[in-house]
Amino acid sequence: MQSIFLSKFQAVYFKLSMFTKSLRNIPAQTSKEINMFKIILDQYLDRPIKIFEWGSGCSTIYYSKYLKSKNANFQWHAVDNNKPWYEKVLTDIKKENLISHIHLYLKEFLPFWQKPGWGQIPPPCAVFSPKEDNEWAYIRLPQEMNQKFDIIIIDARFRRHCVQIAKQVLAPGGVVIMHDAHKPHYHQGLEGFPLRSFYDTGSWYPFQERPNQVWVGSMKNQIIFDVLKSFEKAV
Ligand SMILES: C[S@@+](CC[C@H](N)C(=O)[O-])C[C@H]1O[C@@H](n2cnc3c(N)ncnc32)[C@H](O)[C@@H]1O
Repeated sequence: MQSIFLSKFQAVYFKLSMFTKSLRNIPAQTSKEINMFKIILDQYLDRPIKIFEWGSGCSTIYYSKYLKSKNANFQWHAVDNNKPWYEKVLTDIKKENLISHIHLYLKEFLPFWQKPGWGQIPPPCAVFSPKEDNEWAYIRLPQEMNQKFDIIIIDARFRRHCVQIAKQVLAPGGVVIMHDAHKPHYHQGLEGFPLRSFYDTGSWYPFQERPNQVWVGSMKNQIIFDVLKSFEKAV
C-alpha cells in the first residue's frame, strides 16, 4: 500500500510535468515514447505518409513539425471529441503554419468521465460503450475517408473500438500505435494483429508501480519491430 504522502507527491509531480510539457508544446509522453514515435515515423520517410490519430493534441503538432523538418510528404488526420480542445489545437496548427499538412476533425460528445455513473475502472461492460451518432462517427471516421493509413495512433476515447477500425483501414505495410497500453481494459482485439508487441516506456513520476507501455501492431511490417529492438519489450 502506498502512503498517502507518496500518492500526493506523485500527483503533484505528474501535474507539474504535464504542465511544463504543454507549455513547451511537447506531447504528454515520456522521453522514451517520443523517441519511439520518431523512430517509427522515420521508417516511412521514403514515401507519401498518411497518418490517422484518434485524440489530437501536442502530439499532432509536435510530430508534424518533426516530419516537416525531415522534408516528409505527409498528411496527418486527427479527430477529437472535445470542442474547446479541438479549437485550441486548431489555433496552434495555424500558428505553426501546418494547415496544409494537418486535417483536424471534431465529433463532439462527452468524455466517459463526465457521464453519469462513471467511477469504476474498468467500466461495467457495455454501460459506457458508444451509443450516440457522434461517438460512432468519431470511431468510424477513417473508414468514412475511404483511404488506407500508414500510421495510426490510438490515444483517446473508445480505444477498443478504434483498434477494430484501425485493422480495416491500415495500409499493408502500416503500423498501429496505442499509447497508455499498460491498461488491461485496452487490450481487447490486439491479438488481431499478427505482428505485435508491448514496450515498457518509462514512468510519469518516481516510484510508479507499473511502468507506462506503448503497444505496436502491424499486419506484416516486421521491419518496425526490428528497429524497435533497443526498446524493452514488456512481459
Ligand atoms: C491523452 S490526450 C492525448 C492527446 C494527444 N494525442 C497528445 O498526445 O497530445 C487524449 C484526449 O484528452 C483530451 N484532452 C487532453 N488535454 C486536454 C485539455 N487540456 N483540455 C481538454 N481536453 C483535453 C482530448 O480530448 C484528447 O483527445
